[in-house]
Amino acid sequence: MTDAMTGSTRPPATSVRRWQVPGRVNLIGEHLDYNGGPSVPFAIDRFVTLKARRRDDDAVNVWSTLPGTTSAERASFTTGVTSGEVSGWAAYVAGTVWSLREAGHDVPGVDLVLESDLPSGAGLSSSAALTVGTACALEDLAGLGLDRTAVALLAQRAENDYVGAPTGVMDQLAVAHGRAGHAVRTDPSTSPPGVEVVPFAVAESGLVVLVVDTGVHHAHAGGGYADRRRESEQAAAELGLDHLAKAGPDAVLRLEDETLKARTRHVITETARVRAAVRALGDGEWKQLGTILTASHESLRDDYAVSCAELDVTVEAALEAGALGARMTGGGFGGSVIALVPRDRLDAVTALVRERFEALGWERPAAFPVVPADGARLTD
Ligand code: GLA
Repeated sequence: MTDAMTGSTRPPATSVRRWQVPGRVNLIGEHLDYNGGPSVPFAIDRFVTLKARRRDDDAVNVWSTLPGTTSAERASFTTGVTSGEVSGWAAYVAGTVWSLREAGHDVPGVDLVLESDLPSGAGLSSSAALTVGTACALEDLAGLGLDRTAVALLAQRAENDYVGAPTGVMDQLAVAHGRAGHAVRTDPSTSPPGVEVVPFAVAESGLVVLVVDTGVHHAHAGGGYADRRRESEQAAAELGLDHLAKAGPDAVLRLEDETLKARTRHVITETARVRAAVRALGDGEWKQLGTILTASHESLRDDYAVSCAELDVTVEAALEAGALGARMTGGGFGGSVIALVPRDRLDAVTALVRERFEALGWERPAAFPVVPADGARLTD
């Protein structure tokens, strides 16, 4: 069926559409998106899978076996779902329905089945996978003709205004725009945000990006993440800027408060590290890239104060066992570390991290390599 206005096609009501939607890691540019600065995340080969079938009524039925749910759980609401009506994992789906509708789109009823091999709460953006995936599925079923950036922005609104997590848009853009063998450079300082895919030939260079999930789980809907946002906004306001990423090198000297100075120092130095990392990526300067990743971790630990003992121990052990660089990735306060590791050091890095965790009486962390993967895509 073709929509006369948009030229977009809409699948027949009875067919099941299967979407494969990746998580992401962020290579560099942490806590910059909501400050108006660039990030370089990439989509990873761990996915949420959504099977979607359009309904003739306004019911939204979701069956989930996502990690963290015990057995198949079901949630049901309607396309008229209101703020606060749905909570827990299903709020990400309900929020996306709500967000599309708030934007004036005609949202069809849908049956959705969710599966995943992407750990949740691990800093790998399972929530963005769920919101972007739901938005893609609904967009497709309704034939709305939205582009990927529009989908990412609707998914972000679901998370911000329905779930109540004040995130930036980096994760949603990475999940929507990812491309195999590439990273996604995002620039939220323009409207709509800029997106550019840049080659990331990590496998061809004998290197592996290892993810270590510390098992310490975060929740962005409260706590430290929101505090950092507030502190950044306060620093920007004191400097007379609309976004902190616009701060010049003298900004730190112009602030009084030590905490705000430190947060600003992170934003300024991290923005410079993004530029240096993109150059290193382009030139295949992997050692240099590793050094930049580790410097980013130190800045997140010391100036932005979003790391924790488990993340720091993982980074130190990875470096000691031969990683070229390592850093926490995502919002922090738990979650995952990424390490850039020569293939022949992979086992040694994993073993030393686990040894350190065991010595400290911490639970054995999950560790797995990832490769840059495609963003959300239809697989049937
Ligand atoms: C979380 C948020 C992102 C971003 C990162 C930190 O992943 O969802 O928008 O702010 O933290 O870089």
